[in-house]
Amino acid sequence: MFGQLQNKTILVTGGAGFVGSHLCERLLGLGAKVICFDNLSTGRVRNLSFAYDAQNAASTNPNFVFIQGDVNVADDTRQVFLSYPIDYVFHYAAVVGVKRVWEKPFAVFKDIEGFNNILDLSVMRGIKKVVFSSSSEAYGEPVERFEREDGIHNPGSRDAYALTKLVGENLFLGYYEKYKLPATVLRFFNVYGPKQESSAYGFVAGVFIKQVLEGKSPTVFGDGKQTRDFVYVDDNIELAIRALLSDKTNGEVINIGKGKPTAILELAEQIIKISGKDLKPEFLPARPNDIKYRCPDITKMKRLLDQEPQFSLEEGLKRTFDWYKDNYSRSV
Ligand SMILES: NC(=O)c1ccc[n+]([C@@H]2O[C@H](COP(=O)([O-])OP(=O)(O)OC[C@H]3O[C@@H](n4cnc5c(N)ncnc54)[C@H](O)[C@@H]3O)[C@@H](O)[C@H]2O)c1
Repeated sequence: MFGQLQNKTILVTGGAGFVGSHLCERLLGLGAKVICFDNLSTGRVRNLSFAYDAQNAASTNPNFVFIQGDVNVADDTRQVFLSYPIDYVFHYAAVVGVKRVWEKPFAVFKDIEGFNNILDLSVMRGIKKVVFSSSSEAYGEPVERFEREDGIHNPGSRDAYALTKLVGENLFLGYYEKYKLPATVLRFFNVYGPKQESSAYGFVAGVFIKQVLEGKSPTVFGDGKQTRDFVYVDDNIELAIRALLSDKTNGEVINIGKGKPTAILELAEQIIKISGKDLKPEFLPARPNDIKYRCPDITKMKRLLDQEPQFSLEEGLKRTFDWYKDNYSRSV
C-alpha cells in the first residue's frame, strides 16, 4: 500500500516539529519526495538531522527540501505551492501546547488564515489529498466515556486551540463537499515519543521524563486520576499515512488513538519504574479546567484504516526515555 508513495511529492507543514519531523523521515523512507515547510516557532532544524545539515543549511538527501516560512502568510505558502509539483499535503503546522495557548490565545486564531491558504492553493493546484491534524480537544469537555466522531459533542469548547481546530475541521470538510478536494481530518489524542518538547511549554510524557532524568519527582496536578490516551508517535504516523492513501477516508473525521485510558499518575509511575530511580510523584494543586478523562472510541479508525496502534505504553515510554537520556540537552 505504502509503495504508492514512491516518487510522490508530499508537503508537510509543521514538518520541523515533533510529529511532523517523524512523518517527514518516514515518508522519505517510503521513497517520497518531501517538502518540509515550517516557521520554526516551536520546530527545530535539529529535528531534521536525518536529511538536513543545519550548520550548512543544506539538505543531505536529494529528496528532501526544507523551507522556512509561515503557512499563515499567503505569499509564503503560495510560493511553496507554485514552486513544486505537490501531490499530497499533510497540514500539521499549528500553535500547540496548553501553556502557550493559555498565555496567547489570540495567536492561535491566526492559524485560520493558514487553513484558508492551504485549502485554496490545494484546490487551485489539484492536490490529490489533504490530511489535517485536528485534536481530541475538538470534543471540548468530554460527554461520553469513549468519544465517538459521530457522538455527542460539547459545543462549549473552552479554549482558542479547540475552537481553531473545530473551524479547521469544518473548513477541510467543507472544501471536500464544495470543491471535491479529497480531505481527511484526523483527531489526534496524546502523541508521545522522541523529540517532543519537554520544556514548561511541553507535553506530559516528555515533561515527566525530563524531571526524572534530573533526579526530580514528576509533578502531578491534582490526584493524578485524570486520564489521557497515549499513542506512540510511530503508530500515529503509520495511521496518518494509511488515512492519506485510502479513498474511504475522504470527507471523514477519524480519531487517532489507542482507546486505552491511562491515569496521569500511572504514567508518572511507569516512567519512574523505567528510570530505575528511587523517586515518588509530587502532587501539585489541580489545574483549573483540567479535563478529568479523555479517551477515543477507535471503532471507526480500525474500520477505515484497518490498523490499530502496535506499541504498548511500556515499550513506547522505554524508547522515549532512552532517546531523552541520549539527547537530553537537545530536547529542552
Ligand atoms: N502532539 C500531540 O499530542 C498532538 C495532539 C493533538 C493534535 N496535535 C496536532 O498535531 C500537529 C503537530 O503537533 P506537534 O505535537 O508535532 O507540535 P510541534 O509544536 O512540535 O509542531 C508544530 C510545528 O508547526 C510549526 N508551525 C507553527 N505555526 C506555523 C506556521 N504558522 N507556519 C509554519 N509552521 C508553523 C512549528 O514550528 C512546529 O514545527 C499540530 O497540528 C497539533 O495541533 C498534536
